[in-house]
Amino acid sequence: MQPTLEEIRQNFTNDGVWELDVEIEQILKRQIMSLPSSDNLSKQECRYPEDKLSLRGFLDKFFARHFFQVQNAILQPSCFERILTAIKNGNVTIADIGCGPAVASLALVNLLSYISHNMHRPVTVNIVLNDTVPEMLAAGYKMLNIYKNRLTSVNISRIISIDTPFPESMVQLRRISNILNRYDICCLSYVLLPLKEEATYMQMQQSLKILFSYLKPTGVGVITQDKFRESLARRLGSLLNSSTQKITLRQKIYDSKNTCNELLYEYFRITVLPEITQGVSSRFCLQK
Ligand SMILES: C[S@@+](CC[C@H](N)C(=O)[O-])C[C@H]1O[C@@H](n2cnc3c(N)ncnc32)[C@H](O)[C@@H]1O
Repeated sequence: MQPTLEEIRQNFTNDGVWELDVEIEQILKRQIMSLPSSDNLSKQECRYPEDKLSLRGFLDKFFARHFFQVQNAILQPSCFERILTAIKNGNVTIADIGCGPAVASLALVNLLSYISHNMHRPVTVNIVLNDTVPEMLAAGYKMLNIYKNRLTSVNISRIISIDTPFPESMVQLRRISNILNRYDICCLSYVLLPLKEEATYMQMQQSLKILFSYLKPTGVGVITQDKFRESLARRLGSLLNSSTQKITLRQKIYDSKNTCNELLYEYFRITVLPEITQGVSSRFCLQK
């Protein structure tokens, strides 16, 4: 039976509050414990991690936040239908640009695993990780591999790491797209800011349009960014002819220093949907 959007949301949240499942929480905690203590670092110092210390702080403070935001982005009707199409085809290829410790990829595999299990449709997943920091690629690779061994309905077939900075990595991304018959999901989670520091808006528009041209016609592009970057998110959304939405999400807190149980976070989301040439049904109608 194909789960509905409502059923999936209910599974991933507790009374509307997003929560990690036991497997992902264990993998996250294990990765945090394997890194040197970062107690002296501020939140700001961990926001864009560059080494093992700041990576630990990042995992502690930001992992869950970014993870839920990617899942929430996919669980909107227009994207969800496309993901179902990909699962029915038996193959999902993900490009995770500025992946950090593979946060978006883990979030997507977690979602795919639940949906494909409930549809009784095993799915093969290929993941392309692109980041400039070796510690991020190594941590992402490690966490995905641990997760891979616990999955039943998802077979992670390939994890390809690219350490060339985006957009120079486009040569490799295009080559992989050609080999794997294009991407189903291209995700840029919290990487707009470092990218914008190196490029003009026109250059960003150009490189992102090229990246999204490697999506299948039924593919999905997702960009997420924090609430403090409103003009960046809105300007890019409009340059990509895509909608930019301000989203509020309630989640359980996983930060070891924060004693609150749950918190509301606001962020921006840009959804890029190539035009579908064949008809796709519109049975799902829960808009969040
Ligand atoms: C804030 S982290 C976000 C990590 C992850 N995507 C997430 O949602 O948690 C930004 C990441 O972008 C990476 N990055 C910065 N500039 C980049 C570039 N030009 N190409 C690829 N990755 C880049 C950084 O190394 C860092 O891991």
